[in-house]
Amino acid sequence: MSGPMSSMHGATALSGGAPDTVLTLPPAPGTHVTVRGLSKSFAGAPLYTNFSLDLPRSKIVSIFGPNGCGKSTLMNMIAGLLSPDTGEILFDGKSLKDTQIGYVFQNYRDALFPWITAWDNIAYPLKRQGMKPAAVKARVEELVALFEIRFDLQRYPYELSGGQMQTVCIMRSMATRPEVLFLDEPFSALDFEMTLFIRAKLQEAHLATGTTMVIVSHDLEDAVFLADRILLLTRRPTRIAEIVPFDLPRPRLPEAVADPAFVRAKAHTLEVFRREMR
Ligand SMILES: Nc1ncnc2c1ncn2[C@@H]1O[C@H](COP(=O)(O)OP(=O)(O)OP(=O)(O)O)[C@@H](O)[C@H]1O
Ligand SMILES: [Mg+2]
Repeated sequence: MSGPMSSMHGATALSGGAPDTVLTLPPAPGTHVTVRGLSKSFAGAPLYTNFSLDLPRSKIVSIFGPNGCGKSTLMNMIAGLLSPDTGEILFDGKSLKDTQIGYVFQNYRDALFPWITAWDNIAYPLKRQGMKPAAVKARVEELVALFEIRFDLQRYPYELSGGQMQTVCIMRSMATRPEVLFLDEPFSALDFEMTLFIRAKLQEAHLATGTTMVIVSHDLEDAVFLADRILLLTRRPTRIAEIVPFDLPRPRLPEAVADPAFVRAKAHTLEVFRREMR
């Protein structure tokens, strides 16, 4: 490790495990998600070997690293979409099945049900839980207020702009009040104006709910902007290169990208990334 922020590394609640981390290592105080001894191979080629990680409660962690290093695989294993070969993942000591999570898929165009309205897409997970219609309506209205929705949710997905679709995806993912929200490249298909809008909405939702968020991003600015911690991964076999803290107060406005703290965090993240690319 090198650079101005590496000294803070050990002090953060999010800590990376050395390859020989003991499976029973207790989580640090304030930890929400505990990953211990995770291994995953594809076609006999190891991607993760005895990988451990703690994600702090109510923080936003961005995952950043070289192409194909396993960002999506890591998030999908934590979110239960993919089984690890070995290892344990706990949420406040509970298993996934006792934990409410939300997931925002990379491609919003394929993520919404095209045959029902935006409103029904948002209501879908609530109805599936067996929530009564009046309660569903009240919860959707809460989300409409939280996200300050001005467009007509009675429209179908194909009638919405990309940013509106992504907003609907995020509202749907938050409908069941997830403890942890996973977002895979939520900005990658958005233009800059929409990126600013979705960043602001995610940040407002985070401030209002305290939901722990994990965001995969391949854009350095996006990775830093919302993050409390930037988890930098190495090339495969994948380890933690560094965890960069970014403590700029919230709400962060678009001009935060010119703040010296932002510039420093971005420069340091880039330095670690380039070291990994060598
Ligand atoms: N189902 C699979 N079968 C075989 N190999 C896989 C599978 N899923 C992922 N991989 C391989 O594992 C590695 C990590 O993939 P993953 O999608 O997690 O990377 P990533 O960091 O999200 O990449 P990107 O930056 O391209 O989104 C890649 O080399 C990929 O080819
Ligand atoms: Mg990916």
